[in-house]
Amino acid sequence: MIIVREVAQLRQAIAERRQFGADGAKAEQGSAAIRPHTVGFVPTMGYLHEGHASLMQKAREMADTVVLSIFVNPIQFGPNEDLDSYPRDEARDLEVARREGVDIVFLPTVAEMYPQPTRTKIRVSALTDRLCGASRPGHFDGVTTVVAKLFNMVGPDLAFFGMKDAQQVAVLQQMVTDLNMNVTIVPCPIVREADGLALSSRNVYLSAEQREQALVLSQSLRKVREVSEDDVQNTFTIRQLYQMVETTITSSPLADIDYIEILTFPSLEPLLPEQRLSDVEEDIIVALAVKFGNTRLIDNIRIQKGEVLLHV
Ligand code: PAF
Repeated sequence: MIIVREVAQLRQAIAERRQFGADGAKAEQGSAAIRPHTVGFVPTMGYLHEGHASLMQKAREMADTVVLSIFVNPIQFGPNEDLDSYPRDEARDLEVARREGVDIVFLPTVAEMYPQPTRTKIRVSALTDRLCGASRPGHFDGVTTVVAKLFNMVGPDLAFFGMKDAQQVAVLQQMVTDLNMNVTIVPCPIVREADGLALSSRNVYLSAEQREQALVLSQSLRKVREVSEDDVQNTFTIRQLYQMVETTITSSPLADIDYIEILTFPSLEPLLPEQRLSDVEEDIIVALAVKFGNTRLIDNIRIQKGEVLLHV
């Protein structure tokens, strides 16, 4: 596994893999045996868990070369957010990357990523003013800007993102399409603990009691799944679905709801409260952001025309 900290080294390492392949043998021009060498990219902010591991596994399955980036991106954190305390463990992250068969790890410093004050921002409109975008102004501008920069550095064919950040997936898909970026976004399922809690680097902040009560998120989404799978109950309206989720979450005294939203996916348009689940023709996402103490957790479930794609 190659570990690089500078953009020039990263570009060189990827160019060599594209030219010589994994075994270092130079591709012969025009050879029928040679198919294009694909680069799969997993961008992360580190403190890797099994959710990240599942992205690396998918990348390993689909691409010839797997590139992982670990960079806690300051421009996607608000002034009162957890940038300074965001958990970091480089040695452990490198072990996970090695275990998952990553080829190249990119570990830039802030100065390497932002050598001069950034005057160019990538901003996806509309999709970013709701859900997490409403409570974290500027967050998605930071995400799209850094991901666009990373795409320019890595030049991936495929890029892997977890559906736990479903809005991030929708926003990045929009950016890639709008800007004709030559990369395919591969959304990957949410990975959960055995008791249902969606994996997140921020779960380490939870006390034992908060951790226990945070299970109301996945429990409420499990109820959504049951309702959406049940043909008879598909007469459920969006309002009833909302109330069911809200009742489950407020059963936890420690839960402080930031939002419960039921929207179309990936266009993230609101649905009418009296609309019946069965009448909605697009995919639906039920998305949650709930604080336990200072820790803000997100989770979601996507319903695709009655069929639930993601596992709760
Ligand atoms: O999902 C994340 O970890 C981050 O938002 C990303 C995509 C690595 C950009 O910093």
